Amino acid sequence: MFIKRRSPEDISAAKRDDSLLTSMRDPQLDADRAPNPEWLIIIGVCTHLGCIPFPDSGDWGGYFCPCHGSHYDLSGRVRKGPAGANMAVPPY
Ligand code: FES
Repeated sequence: MFIKRRSPEDISAAKRDDSLLTSMRDPQLDADRAPNPEWLIIIGVCTHLGCIPFPDSGDWGGYFCPCHGSHYDLSGRVRKGPAGANMAVPPY
């Protein structure tokens, strides 16, 4: 499980990228993934083949999976690489 307390800059970046939803592989609004925007709670498993991504890294400053190069943004949405889905948000 990854629990990230997002800074105001992190939240702004995630919400700004909501405007790019149509270009996302697994389109989801940030507000639907982080109802309280200060806290992002996701299952820390890459949706490609199950490696553990590195936090605070990748081209969008979110998560980077070194196994095959998937990049996730500050909302845990996949943005680049072979993963086909966003990192999962568990019920909480
Ligand atoms: Fe993460 Fe393949 S397991 S990119």
